[in-house]
Amino acid sequence: MSGICSGRVAVVTGAGRGLGRAHAMALAAEGAAVVVNDLGAGPGGEGHSASPAERVAEEIRARGGRAVAHGGDIATAEGAASLTALALETYGRLDALVNNAGFLRDRMLVNLGEDDWDAVVHVHLKGHFLPLKHAAAHWRAEAKAGRTPQARVVNTTSGAGLLGSVGQGNYAAAKAGIVGLTLVAAAELGRYGVCVNAIAPAARTRMTETTFPEAMAAPRDGTFDAMSPANVSPLVAWLASAGSDGVTGHVFETEAGRITVMEGWHPGPTADRGDRWTPAEAGEAVRGLLAGARPPRPVYGAG
Ligand SMILES: NC(=O)c1ccc[n+]([C@@H]2O[C@H](COP(=O)([O-])OP(=O)(O)OC[C@H]3O[C@@H](n4cnc5c(N)ncnc54)[C@H](O)[C@@H]3O)[C@@H](O)[C@H]2O)c1
Repeated sequence: MSGICSGRVAVVTGAGRGLGRAHAMALAAEGAAVVVNDLGAGPGGEGHSASPAERVAEEIRARGGRAVAHGGDIATAEGAASLTALALETYGRLDALVNNAGFLRDRMLVNLGEDDWDAVVHVHLKGHFLPLKHAAAHWRAEAKAGRTPQARVVNTTSGAGLLGSVGQGNYAAAKAGIVGLTLVAAAELGRYGVCVNAIAPAARTRMTETTFPEAMAAPRDGTFDAMSPANVSPLVAWLASAGSDGVTGHVFETEAGRITVMEGWHPGPTADRGDRWTPAEAGEAVRGLLAGARPPRPVYGAG
């Protein structure tokens, strides 16, 4: 298959369904060989099954593409290391890593159990860090051997991580952490030929279709299916391609036909006393600064 990822090899985590499946299909359609990872976990991370990853790999092969399934848990050292290893053993190279796997356990903070905190932070944050670490170690070795790659990482954050989301303290904290990880990885890995960006998608998957049934529903009249996960994947395929050279350290919000560059934190109004503040003076200064500051965007689900 020819396309913008022709000759490249991509790993997609959590690609057995939802957005990850759409990314894997798009990458394969653009010519990439794909390692389709999925633990086959339930909506809250429970259980496991090899079937989702195998089904998607089979679907890609049936369309004439190249794909191999990987059923491991990407938030474990063994699962993450074997991902990169499988790409190298099967296809002899690795060009792109799409970190996408994860699940939700939504609760208001006062009801959020330690297990639900740990599980969600673990799957998203460690589940991004470990595959990134193993892929980056390979790319650094390639660069040091004089074969600097045109490598790409696409991480998955969320509007919840950028703005906050009521009932998702664990998820919002993990997804905000993924933004920090993306910035550090982009700064550290550029010298090895690696570009690292993050997307904040919105689409109809099992994660969203019951919570927002009307907003996510597919139209019945054949018009643009705005919330199809496949609408998010063209950006992912481009970010995973060699053509995205120089684009690194960015966060893109993307849904339907829209792509937005998220501009992140910028210093707003500032005051410098030139000496230590008293608490009362600091308070007065803060109120004055806030009066001239841009109001924050609302937290999802607030008020
Ligand atoms: N759907 C949305 O609107 C939306 C919005 C913002 C962010 N996201 C993010 O997009 C990503 C994909 O979500 P989705 O909506 O497609 O959900 P989904 O539940 O359809 O797919 C997630 C997949 O990850 C797999 N998975 C879970 N834990 C795993 C592990 N430890 N190792 C390997 N695979 C594992 C699951 O088996 C599942 O197939 C997630 O990171 C999610 O937080 C989705």
